[in-house]
Amino acid sequence: MNATLTLTRPDDWHVHLRDGEGLRAVVTDTARQFARAIVMPNLTPPVTTVAQAEAYRDRILAVLPAASTFTPLMTLYLTEAMLPLEIERASRSGLIHAVKYYPAGVTTHSEAGVRDLAHCSEALRAMEDLGVPLLIHGEVNDPAVDIFDRERVFIERHLIPLVQRYPQLKVVLEHITTASAVKFVLTADDNVAATVTPHHLLYNRNALFQGGIRPHYYCLPILKREAHRQALIRAVTSGNPKFFLGTDSAPHARSTKENACGCAGIYSAHAALELYAEAFEGAGALGKLEGFASHFGADFYGLPRNTQSVTLVRESWTAPATQPFGPETLVPLRAGEAIAWRLQAPI
Ligand code: NCD
Ligand code: ZN
Repeated sequence: MNATLTLTRPDDWHVHLRDGEGLRAVVTDTARQFARAIVMPNLTPPVTTVAQAEAYRDRILAVLPAASTFTPLMTLYLTEAMLPLEIERASRSGLIHAVKYYPAGVTTHSEAGVRDLAHCSEALRAMEDLGVPLLIHGEVNDPAVDIFDRERVFIERHLIPLVQRYPQLKVVLEHITTASAVKFVLTADDNVAATVTPHHLLYNRNALFQGGIRPHYYCLPILKREAHRQALIRAVTSGNPKFFLGTDSAPHARSTKENACGCAGIYSAHAALELYAEAFEGAGALGKLEGFASHFGADFYGLPRNTQSVTLVRESWTAPATQPFGPETLVPLRAGEAIAWRLQAPI
């Protein structure tokens, strides 16, 4: 008999569901695996008001499979025009669980992001007072800084001063990729945590260039050296509750990835938990998967842990070469290749 692993149903604390024609396919994958997900607000235009977030939430709920109990946890996109009043409204809404900070120009749909965080001080103070978490894309957008160093430099230039200025602010450093980020999170107070993606646990930067240029491994922050991957593996398998699951699953149509200027983003929602299971198994630490995937994020966000469970079976299957994405297709992570675990009888 194949080995199985039963866990409390997990949540995804960082996902891109997009909007419009591609929404249904993407939401269906995430809802099959996760009870809840923190939904990124980087639409065009970005989700900057409570009213926009509520309308987006309704569009997500409208495309859910009938039997699904999936709950989208909405976020706002921080701009320099964000008023403290909007933060208060968000906090009262019960539907909005965080605010996302994109340094302007740093990644996909971040043009409306923040140029100078000093211009956001009132909004940040309101978040600190009300306990609304700030989710950070932690990279500098400085062409003089090597792309592989942008996370480390962001931590030094911006993040250390930020947590000093707002010591009570709840902060999640999203999709961490470096030993520097692990160290920062470990030494920070308990109100500072991090999410980690499956791709940054499974691949190093060689994957980008295996036999040629591989656009489906391109995401931001970019994959790093093996030593950094190992630091991430150590962090997530340590059982430290500051590190929890956030896939950063970020779908793009195949034609925009396989392109002279391909978009950043890796799609993993079709097999997220299975891919994490591989990474934990590779480190001999499957017993640490449940805390990371199903407990620590809920605890950090002050939400109840899920009560349902899911079961993974150790049974190899082949990920599809492509998947529908509205009128287009997308190429998921591990396309056409084997995945060692399979999620059993999902909704
Ligand atoms: C994300 C996207 O496509 O929206 N891309 C990515 O490479 N991760 C944006 C982001 O999270 O940086
Ligand atoms: Zn993201």
